[in-house]
Parts: sequence; structure tokens; C-alpha cells
Amino acid sequence: MDPIIKAVDVQYCTLQCPDLNVQEQFLIHFGMHTVEKTDNMLLMRGEGPQPFIEKCIKGEKKFLSASFLAASMDDLHKLSESESFSEVEELTTPGGGFVTRAMDPDGIGVEVVYGIENRPDYNEVAPYPTNEGTNVNRVNQIKRYPKGSYPKIIRFAHYGINSNNISAALEWYNNHLGIIPSDKLWFGDSGDSNTPLMGCFARLDRGLTPADHHSIFWLDANNQSEGIAGLNHVSFEMLNIDDVFMGHEILQQKKDEFDYELEWGVGRHYQGSQIFDYWRSPFKQTHEHQTDGDLLDNTISCNDINMIENTGGMPGDDPGPSQWGPPINLGTFGDKRGI
Ligand SMILES: [Fe+2]
Repeated sequence: MDPIIKAVDVQYCTLQCPDLNVQEQFLIHFGMHTVEKTDNMLLMRGEGPQPFIEKCIKGEKKFLSASFLAASMDDLHKLSESESFSEVEELTTPGGGFVTRAMDPDGIGVEVVYGIENRPDYNEVAPYPTNEGTNVNRVNQIKRYPKGSYPKIIRFAHYGINSNNISAALEWYNNHLGIIPSDKLWFGDSGDSNTPLMGCFARLDRGLTPADHHSIFWLDANNQSEGIAGLNHVSFEMLNIDDVFMGHEILQQKKDEFDYELEWGVGRHYQGSQIFDYWRSPFKQTHEHQTDGDLLDNTISCNDINMIENTGGMPGDDPGPSQWGPPINLGTFGDKRGI
């Protein structure tokens, strides 16, 4: 079955948080800027063109939804005519635009948006060119970051969900939004129908236009969070590698005073290859800084990885820990404290 539409990007995430002042302070330290704050809603932006990249609603801690971008208004209407999605509504947040909403099989909200205008005060922020060995891009230009400067976030990049049925979730996102798998993590031989699927990284199908290795990442809720489906983490793309490390330094300095928690980082992932750094907010909702991830077009097929044998078909394709960086604490990564 052809998907109803093929989403072309992700736009923002929506979290529910008990105290918006605490959340705002965390996100400022994390590298965002306040766009709008009322008693019930907080909107935060990065340095990119999107008017906001994280929306927070006051209430009991919960992951409410992620927003995907449709290619056209027609696509929004096509989705809204399907059984799962709501009528198209006008958005009242900065940048305007339109939305249709659904719940995925895990009860996680999905918004698909179109027509949100870029923020009027956007000025393109370009990273410094990088000199790497014989790949010389910066001559007669000094690289300087003011000491203590906050890390620069470009965009909301992807999110992780602890799922009660990864295959059902992938099928739903494929049918509605054209999402395709990049890597599947199997607890054993993927050729054996009894082998449990422990995780899946999935991306947008943009044809021959490259897409991030993953826009969604599912892990097994039974394994991670005692069978409770919900947030594993939200992830934001940084301007460059320096911003990941500057963010790490600032959050390390603030963590005792503001109750932040380093979950895992800095390191470089296997699946997706990003340089990553995961931090828990005071509400334990994990936020990731990442940069330099893999981009794949739709000609690359899914890679089945046997997590027991650690063979993904490529040398060094270990699905667990990082290519470099501190070890993961498998007992706490994405546990139910952040749901
Ligand atoms: Fe991530």
C-alpha cells in the first residue's frame, strides 16, 4: 500500500511540564530562546528559521506530540480524510499555518503541519568552516567562540519513543507519513520469526533528496520503561561540533544548582553516526544535543542488526555503546522517569 502522504521534515515537539518557569530556564541553558510564555504555554526557538521548535504546555509531565511537515496543503487534506486524522485546523501559534492531528498506536500524538512561516527576525547563522587534514576550508579566518557562550541549536531533529509494539508503530507511520526504516535492532537472528524487535531507527522518504538517518527512534517499552509507552528523548541539531561540547560544559556547570542530569555523552553513535550528548531536565525528560549525523536517500535499504552477535553487516557496527565516548548506562537510558 502506498503511504497516504510522504512527510518532508519534522517541525517541533510538544511536551507537557509541571512548571513552565523551570522548563524555560532549562531550555535557555540548553541553548534555546523564549518566543512566548503565558500561564499555560511556553514556546522556544533555536537559531534556525522555524518560529519555535519546542512547545511546552503546563500540566502533568508527559510527551504530547511531535509535528511533521507536509509537502502541500493538499497532503494535509488527504491525511485529514483518513480515519486516523482530525479536520484541518488553523494554528494560532507564531508563524500561523495549518494542522491535522492523530494518535499513533502507542497513544503518542502526531501533528502534521503546513504553511508555518519562518520567523521574520531570522538571519542565517553559518558554522565556521572546518580544517581537517588535507580538507582545508578556513584560511586567514580565526575561529573564536566567546568563553561561556551558549550552544547554538539549529532545529528540532528527531525523537525517541518507548513503544509497546515497534512493528505496529512503524507500519502506522509508514502508511500515513511514508516513514521508512533505516536500522532494525533484533535480539537475535532477524530471519527467525520468534526473534524480538528491540529497536528501530526510521527516516523520511524524500526520494533522492537526503534525509536524516532517523527522524523517529523506537525502543521496546518492556525493556526500557516497564511496559509504559512514552518519551525516550527529544533531539536537537546543533550548528556544529563545538556547540555540542559548549552545551555540555554549560550544563555541567549548572547541573547541581538547577537539578539537571547527564544521561549519556559526549560520544559518537553507531546508528546515525551523530555526535551526541543527552541531558535530563528537572522533570527528567531527556533532551539531546547532536550534530554531524548520516544523511540517506531512499535508495538505501534497511539494515537488520543482530544485537547478540553485534553484526550489522559492516565492520564495527556495534549496536550498543558508542563509537567513542563514555559507556551507556543501560539501566537508566530512556527509563520510565522521563516518560
Ligand atoms: Fe537521538
